[in-house]
Parts: sequence; C-alpha cells; structure tokens
Amino acid sequence: MKKPSVCLNLIVCAACAAMLLPALSLSAADAPAPTMEIDLSRPGVRVSPTFYGMMTEEINHAYDGGLYAELIQNRSFKDDPNQPVHWSLVSVADGNSIALDESQPINSALTTSLKLSVTSTTQGRVGIANEGFWGIPAAPRTTYRASFFAKAAADSAGPLTLSLESADGRTVCATAQVPQITSQWARYTVTLKTRRIQPDNHARLVMSTAKPGVFWFNLVSLFPPTFKDRPNGNRVDLMTDLAELHPAFLRFPGGNYLEGKSVDTHFPWKQTLGDISQRPGHEGTWRYRSSDGLGLLEFLEWAEDMGAEPVLAVYAGFSLPNDVKRSGTTVQPGPDLEPFVQEALDEIEYVSGPTNSTWGARRAADGHPAPFPLHYVEIGNEDFVGDAKKTYGARFAQFYDAIKAAHPQLQCIATIPVKTRVPDVLDDHYYATSGEMMKLAHKYDDYDRSQPKIFVGEWATREITRVETNGLVSYNWMPWGYKDAPTPNLHAALGDAAFMTGLERNSDIIVMNCYAPLLTRVEPGAFQWNPNLIGYDSLHSYVSPSYYAQQMFNHRGDTVVPAAMTEAPAGFFYSATRSSATGTVWLKIVNLNATEQTVQFDLNGAKKVAAKGTLIVLTSANSADTNTLTDPAKVKPVTTKIKGLGTRFTRTFAPYSINVLQLETR
Ligand code: AHR
Repeated sequence: MKKPSVCLNLIVCAACAAMLLPALSLSAADAPAPTMEIDLSRPGVRVSPTFYGMMTEEINHAYDGGLYAELIQNRSFKDDPNQPVHWSLVSVADGNSIALDESQPINSALTTSLKLSVTSTTQGRVGIANEGFWGIPAAPRTTYRASFFAKAAADSAGPLTLSLESADGRTVCATAQVPQITSQWARYTVTLKTRRIQPDNHARLVMSTAKPGVFWFNLVSLFPPTFKDRPNGNRVDLMTDLAELHPAFLRFPGGNYLEGKSVDTHFPWKQTLGDISQRPGHEGTWRYRSSDGLGLLEFLEWAEDMGAEPVLAVYAGFSLPNDVKRSGTTVQPGPDLEPFVQEALDEIEYVSGPTNSTWGARRAADGHPAPFPLHYVEIGNEDFVGDAKKTYGARFAQFYDAIKAAHPQLQCIATIPVKTRVPDVLDDHYYATSGEMMKLAHKYDDYDRSQPKIFVGEWATREITRVETNGLVSYNWMPWGYKDAPTPNLHAALGDAAFMTGLERNSDIIVMNCYAPLLTRVEPGAFQWNPNLIGYDSLHSYVSPSYYAQQMFNHRGDTVVPAAMTEAPAGFFYSATRSSATGTVWLKIVNLNATEQTVQFDLNGAKKVAAKGTLIVLTSANSADTNTLTDPAKVKPVTTKIKGLGTRFTRTFAPYSINVLQLETR
C-alpha cells in the first residue's frame, strides 16, 4: 500500500487544505455577472479519442466477490492453509466433521480438498455449507449453475443434495441432486432454479448427504447468469454500469496488484489461463487471495465487451509489501531481469499475436482466435516508491528496447520520468482533496509540449472526513480510512469535475486518463481503499456521484474550443469542446461554491446558435450528499431542455453543481 509522490506532497498540505481550501462560500450576490468568451472561429487542440478510460485491479473484492460472478468464496480451499474458511459443517449430530486435506490432489492447481466425514445421519442431513462473499445472493426466478469436483471413499456414495437456502437453513430457495459420487475424482454439474422467492442477500450453498460416508470436494463453484452469458463470466449489473460509461480503454491488471507483495506474487498471468481447474490462484496484494478466475483472457474479454481497448501493464521487476516504509523488492536490471522481459513479450503476444505465434495459438486454444487491439503497454507501476526509482531508468530501458524491437508500433508508458530512453507516454497519478484538485486542474496548462505525452493513469478526489473550521466546511482525506465511506460524495465529484476540465482542455498532451479504483464491496472490512467509483453487496449495486461526473464529461466534441473568463470566480471551472461534424458545442461548467453563479456567455465566430439546447445538471441540497445501497439515486444528473440560448446569453448555475450545456451551432 502506498501513495503516489504527488500524493505524498499533498498529504502534507491536507491539514492546511482543510482550513485554507474549504468548500468555497463566496458571495456573488451583488457582483455583475462575469463573462465567458467562447471563440468558435479558433478551434483549439483535438480532444484525445482515448478519453475516458478505466483502471482496474483486484482490490476491495473488485473481482472475487465483485465483478467476477463466482458466488463461492474459497472454492479451492486455499484461502487459509489451516482451516476451511467460509465453509462450515452442517450437522446436528456429534461425530461428523470437515477438514482440509492435501492427500487427495486433483492436479498441480487443485491440491487442497475438503474432506467430509459422515458417521451419523440419524438426526438429519449432514453436509458442507459455503457462506459466499458476505452472503450468496438468491434472486427470484433465476437459474444458477453449480459445478464441483468430488470423490467418495466407497465405490458409490450419495445421493448428494445441493441446496441454495437461507443462512439459517429454514428457507430453501432451490435444490438439485447428484445421484451418486464415485471413488474417482469427477466433475459434476447441476442447475439450481429458484421460483418466486423473496430475494435473499445472505443465502448459503449446502451440499449434503442423508447416508454415512466419506467425501472429498474441490473447486466448488456456483454461477448466476452472467453478462452476455459468458461462461466463467461477469456480474450483469456491474458490467451494465461499466459498459454505460463507454470507456475507451481498460488499464489492467494494476496498480499494486500487478506488482504483488514479493517478486513471487506478482500477477502470474500464465497461471490465469485455461479452464478454472488449471488455475492455482495466487496471494493477492490487498490482503486476500485471488482465485484468478478473472484471468488475463477474462480481462481482455471484459474490455472487449465494453468496446474498450486493453492498456496492458507488464510486471517490471518491482514488488512491494503493504508497508510504505519498506523499500520493496527490486529485480536488478540485466540478466536477472531478462526472464521478466521475456514474460512481458509473451504476454504481449498472447494479447495481440497472430494465431501462428506460440502465445497467439494459446489464446486461440483458450477460445479467442482474434487478436485483441493493443497500442499501449505500461512498464511497471508507480516506480517512485521505495528503492524502485534507483533502478527504474535501467529497467525501463531493458523493457523498452525489447518491446520496441519486437513490436515497434507499441507505445511504451513509463511510470516516472526517465533519462535512459524517451518514453512515449508518462503515467501521472493523483489522489487529492477537491481543494487540491482545483489547483491540479491547471497543472498541465503550462506543460512543456516537447515532453512525453501524459497518461493520468490513476486519479480520484478523496474526501472522506467532514471538517468544519470557523463555519467553513471541507472534507479531509484519510489515507487509509477503511472505516469510511466506500464511494465518494458530491463534493468529491465536484473536485473530479474541476480536474476533468483541465484534462479536457489539455487533451493534446494528456492522451488518456482514468479514475481509480473502480469497484468496491461496501460491507465494513470488505474494502481496502476509498473512495471507489461503484459500490455493491451481493444482490445490489449503485454508482457514485463521481461516476455520473465522468458520464457527463463523456459528452464532448472532437475539438477543444478556446473559452476564457476575464475574472473567473474562485471555485468555478469550465471547458468547451465542439463536434467538427455537427457543430454541437458542449460547455462544462463546475461550480464548487455554496452560492449560485450567474455567467454571461459570448459565442464568437458562430453564424447561428440555436435558441434551444440541453442542460445536464448534477447537484444536491448538500455537497456531502452521496449515493448508497439504500439510497442509490440521491445524487443523480437531471437533463432538461432549455431555451433562450444564442450568440449571447446568460445562465445561472446552481451551488455545488456540475453542468453540461449542449448548444447547437453553425
Ligand atoms: O488505486 C489504488 C492504488 O493506488 C494502486 O494500486 C496504486 O497504483 C496506487 O498507489
């Protein structure tokens, strides 16, 4: 766990920011409306077509217990080597037991099984139960697909009953039977269909027998319907929300998750391929083990399902424990690093190589003959941390040379500035309060355009704790505030929007950007980082005000339009773009003030501006308002048709509001 260097500076400022940069409460009541000049005769820079993207990694149960639709937690019994966590014995009689057993491996991936010893069934069924990830969701009229490996001590044992039921076992939502289990490992598959049941967010799966015997289980899996019905696929509600953001790219697999806590636990992409019975899983970075059910091909298909391109981050020989004071582990550049360079080249080939290449053939065998589009490869992640910076220049050069030699068309992204080679793109990260984001909105206005292009590969406004100083309200960020809100409030979305005006205005140099992190479970203890864009439990999900801010900023043209205010009010941010095909102009106006703000607009260089247009507004009564599972639509954009527009017009913007004003011009 660590923070970007920018953030380290910002932490120092955080306390003063709480006092000096609170939510602004400016009185504009008597002042004449300031004027914004918009010059349509002078089209500015081209808006980068790779705005906006997504960044993802396994954090906050983003995949296991989240997007990856598997409902069984600890399906291969490796989450804890000492006990079958998330599993329990279902038995009212003494003498029956469950235990982890390493004496019955199925293959090199499935080495630990769960042994169920049943000596007495006189008082009823005996079995094993899985509690899922904070409960298994049981929804009405839904078909679940269960599969598992099992063997019995006797030649034939059973039948085995599978039951999706309430946590106390009193309500059965669906059942299915496997008539017999043999003495050899075999895979069994059944479907469980619910009828008109009450939805249950905390159900469990029970596999039980009515006769004494000894059974072993492994890879117990339960899937609800998935997005696009993909086998081993993703949750429908979360994929729908993600796809509706129309991301241009998906940066994966991290983040710190790429690096792992040690060299041995960096993202093991080769072990994440093929049937799930061939995937051993690995120790994750963020305090829990990863099943790797969502592996490299699933990342790629997830991107494909959203119409996004992969931005592939390759492991570059630096890993770090979750302790910012420790220096991490670095593989020295030179021969020691060479296997990792080759691993990256193989990975690039798996993603984008032809089917007659070694790894392209493997991708085809895994079910996806068509190569995925790939233009950007990121070498490492945040190499400003610990000892990483000492060797990054040399490590970057080694990867850069090998990648460019094999794939000259690929753009190589560096995680910090280097002198050894000229990176195609540099990845900057920002986690900051809205006060700081307001400053960062101007960070790239004066950026030296001869320097490498910028990828803002992680950014988010973090405002967790309300601070009131002399009547002024602001939100301070708590670096590791696990107990705080999992998703951002409106005030954070305002900071995001202010920042995005700067990204949009400078999108000649900022080629890509993406908010991070993306997904979180919301139960206490389930998430390691906040805030995150989308929150969920087992059955429900919601999107945050920051999600809506991004969705609103996705309304844009292909060209930046120069817009200027002689005296812009403090806490007031804006950007403008235009479609060169249709003439439509999108004005983004962000008002971080507690008071409304009136602005006069002068549009120069347009023959005609239609009187009618569209306004999308995101605001709420209180800037601390947020969305939650129980109130998912508290802060939501509202779209209205408006009149009275023209080459000169005046509009008043609500306090604490993000506005997208769409004008039709010729
Ligand atoms: O987004 C959470 C973490 O923040 C990422 O894993 C890391 O790159 C950054 O420090």
